[in-house]
Amino acid sequence: MPLTDVISGTHREIGARKAVPRRLLMCRPQYYGVTYRINPWMHPDKPVDTDLALLQWEQLRELYESLGHTIEVIDPIDGLPDMVFAANGATVVDGKVLGARFRHAERTAEGPAYLDWFVRNGYQDVLWPEHINEGEGDLLLVGRRILAGAGFRTDQRAHAEAQEFFGLPVTSLTLVNPNHYHLDTALAVLSPDEVMYWPEAFTSGSQAVLRELFPDAVLASEEDAAVFGLNAFSDGRNVLLPSAATGLIDSLRKRGFNPIGVELGELLKAGGSVKCCTLELRSA
Ligand code: ARG
Repeated sequence: MPLTDVISGTHREIGARKAVPRRLLMCRPQYYGVTYRINPWMHPDKPVDTDLALLQWEQLRELYESLGHTIEVIDPIDGLPDMVFAANGATVVDGKVLGARFRHAERTAEGPAYLDWFVRNGYQDVLWPEHINEGEGDLLLVGRRILAGAGFRTDQRAHAEAQEFFGLPVTSLTLVNPNHYHLDTALAVLSPDEVMYWPEAFTSGSQAVLRELFPDAVLASEEDAAVFGLNAFSDGRNVLLPSAATGLIDSLRKRGFNPIGVELGELLKAGGSVKCCTLELRSA
């Protein structure tokens, strides 16, 4: 590796990457299925294997635990098939919880269900939001800044609401591709100052903002974005992502990360993967 790369920080030795143990909230896909269509991935007429979804989800959970992360679970509710996508349930930073308010009626009841879990688990600084936001689906913390998606689900006004509540700068990004309807399907946070994303998922103005903030970002190919390779979770060293995203797996390894391919094909039928199943609980 050329010395200049090492100095500029675009490549780092794997030994230099440190995993930070996390607390993560997940929801077992006990009542999972595709019974309605609120994104282009969902085909209610096509079969879903709930047992296989459960198995794939258990494997993800075990993988997190084997990497030293702590998993909390929220009870699934019959009639809320998308509740498995815990990332959408809230946004938690510094122990403060911004509740989620969903765009579609099919998911509305998930907002209070998740908020209730936080209240019952002792969280005191909890806000029921005024504007629509779909949790970490669209609000991603990078270092001490929040990147906020809009265009399909989260209301632009929720970005200001998040900024006021958390007291952190929020940068708005606009999504344009309906297959990448949440920010976490088009961009993943790798470390406090690194992200990976697929530029075409954003307006040209948002692409320029991302170049400005993250000139060294890992850029995904259309193929890797299309298999949800950006719906990834990073602990600073290990990056869990769909195993079909082979180009990203390669790029991440070159950057000194430890990419780990995961199979979540049954959940992809609802338009979700690794990150969608994972809500980070960041304490104060
Ligand atoms: N079927 C769900 C929806 O369309 C999938 C949610 C995926 N979650 C995510 N964080 N991107 O709302």
